[in-house]
Amino acid sequence: MKNLKGKRVVITGGASGIGLATAVRFYEEGSELCIVDMPTEEETELKARFPERMTYIQADVSTQDGVDKIQNWINGGVDVFINNAGITRDATMAKMTDEQWDQVLAVNLTAVYKLSKIAAIKMKEQGGGAILQASSVVAHYGNFGQSNYVATKAAVIGLTKTMAKEYGKYGVRINSVAPGFIGTPMVRSMPEKVVKMMEDKVPLKRLGEPDEIAAIYAFLASDDAKYITGTCINVDGGIVLG
Ligand SMILES: NC(=O)c1ccc[n+]([C@@H]2O[C@H](COP(=O)([O-])OP(=O)(O)OC[C@H]3O[C@@H](n4cnc5c(N)ncnc54)[C@H](O)[C@@H]3O)[C@@H](O)[C@H]2O)c1
Repeated sequence: MKNLKGKRVVITGGASGIGLATAVRFYEEGSELCIVDMPTEEETELKARFPERMTYIQADVSTQDGVDKIQNWINGGVDVFINNAGITRDATMAKMTDEQWDQVLAVNLTAVYKLSKIAAIKMKEQGGGAILQASSVVAHYGNFGQSNYVATKAAVIGLTKTMAKEYGKYGVRINSVAPGFIGTPMVRSMPEKVVKMMEDKVPLKRLGEPDEIAAIYAFLASDDAKYITGTCINVDGGIVLG
C-alpha cells in the first residue's frame, strides 16, 4: 500500500481478532504501531509478534484514564487511528438492562467519539491523517437481540459522515468499514451447524477472514484511497444484498 511505512498507527482492541490481524498488516507495511487493549490482555505475546515499532497501551477505552493514556501517545503524532474495539451485550429490547445498553454505548460509540475527536484535532495540526471506524453490516438491516450494538454501529456511520464534512478541508479523511460474518476465534468456536448456517446465508458461501478486513483498513489509510472520505465499505461476501 502507498505510504504506510513509518506512519504512526493506533489500533484499539488490537490484541485479538480483526484488531490483531490489522496490527499484523500495518506492521508488515512498516508502520509504527500503538496497540490498545484491555488491562487483562497479555503483553508478552504481542511483544513476541511485534518485536520492534510497537507500543502496547493497556487501557479500557470507555474510561477517562484510558482515553488520557491514548492521548498521551497521540501527542507525539498520529497518522492513522483505527477505532476497532467493540463489545456485544445481547438481549431483546424487553429484556435488555440499562447496564447492558450503557456498556455497549460507552465502548462502541462514546469512546469512538472521544478518541476520534482527539485524533482529528492532532491530525488537523499536523496537516492530515486517516481515521477508521469499525461499523457492521447489521447497521444496515438491524439484528434480533442487538438493539444496543446495532444502534452504535449505525451511529458510527453517521459520525463518520459528519466528521468527514468537518475535517475534509484539513486533509483528515474519516471512513468506516462494515464487516459481515468474520471467522474470528469467537465465531469459529460456535457449533459447526451454526457456522454452516452463517456461511449459507452469504453469497460467497464462506465466512470472511480477519485479514480481509485488515486489508481494507490498510487500503483506506493509504494514499491509494486519498480521494475517499465519509464512506462505509461493506466487507461481507455480499450478505448485505439480503
Ligand atoms: N467478528 C465479526 O464478525 C464482526 C462483524 C462486524 C463488526 N465487527 C466489529 O469489528 C470489531 C472487532 O471485532 P472482533 O470480532 O475482532 O472482536 P474481538 O472480541 O475478537 O476483539 C475485540 C478486542 O477489543 C478489545 N476491547 C473490548 N472492549 C475494550 C475496551 N473497553 N477497551 C479496550 N479494548 C477493548 C477486546 O479485549 C478484544 O481484544 C468490533 O468493533 C466489532 O463490533 C466484528
